[in-house]
Amino acid sequence: MTDTSHTTTPAKKLQGKVAIITGGASGIGEATAHLFAEQGALAVVIADIQDDKGRCVAEAIGSNRCSFVHCDVTDENQVEAAVEWTVKTYGQLDIMFSNAGIVSRSDQVILDLDLSQFDHLFAINVRGMAACVKHAALAMVERRVQGSIICTASVAGSKGTKRRTDYTMSKHAVVGLVRAASQQLGEHGIRVNSVSPYAVATPLMWEAHKRDAAEIEKVYEELTSLKGIVLRVNHIADAVLFLASDESAFISGHDLVVDGGYVQKSN
Ligand SMILES: NC(=O)c1ccc[n+]([C@@H]2O[C@H](COP(=O)([O-])OP(=O)(O)OC[C@H]3O[C@@H](n4cnc5c(N)ncnc54)[C@H](O)[C@@H]3O)[C@@H](O)[C@H]2O)c1
Repeated sequence: MTDTSHTTTPAKKLQGKVAIITGGASGIGEATAHLFAEQGALAVVIADIQDDKGRCVAEAIGSNRCSFVHCDVTDENQVEAAVEWTVKTYGQLDIMFSNAGIVSRSDQVILDLDLSQFDHLFAINVRGMAACVKHAALAMVERRVQGSIICTASVAGSKGTKRRTDYTMSKHAVVGLVRAASQQLGEHGIRVNSVSPYAVATPLMWEAHKRDAAEIEKVYEELTSLKGIVLRVNHIADAVLFLASDESAFISGHDLVVDGGYVQKSN
């Protein structure tokens, strides 16, 4: 007979933590919200503009540990209000996953750059990201919480691209934001990192490519050096969990690429 007397359940990685996830109604943010709750988070607050989808995700996770707040990250007052609501409702903020982001409708090659689309994208991907880092950090500093802030950048934040100039610029800016904020918040014990996904089939990608998930995965799996595995949202969520948890306690200012070797690939 097997002796199971010493078997213990592995400790949950986010026990008692309070997290906000922007863009948590869909894709990478949605998968991360589920994982954070599974890993013992006291509360996961989904902050998004898609009210119906956000509420559905919160209900699926359970109203005892997940809530939805409407928050358009382009509006600093809404970001501040979402952080204030979280702190008032759950007592503190330990984790900010600033993840909301978009791609422009058109290809945005430099010779045909639509600057109104550019401004809209920057308002979300850059300005919105900065507002989330700012207000999360203020809440953490005020309550002396040694929290973790994670931003979603992209592989497009570390190399050039043939299209999507505005998106590529915005993700380089996210990496810059993380580097600057990590330098400034370190003295408060607050860590700031980014996760940089390679292409993963989410609504953002379906809209950008006008293709379904299977077609997107087929196109992109040919460009990585790592074979035999397809990138899915849960792989990104695992990387975010690592950066959110004490497993990465001494890691700050880091950009964790989740790319199957794509960025380093020579051809
Ligand atoms: N899917 C990919 O291949 C990929 C690769 C690299 C980086 N990313 C980044 O990952 C992040 C998440 O994207 P995803 O792929 O999960 O896409 P998604 O479209 O599934 O999710 C993005 C979420 O952001 C929300 N959002 C958009 N504008 C907002 C605003 N103004 N305020 C608040 N929320 C807003 C959307 O409603 C949506 O729920 C983005 O920052 C994106 O740039 C995605």
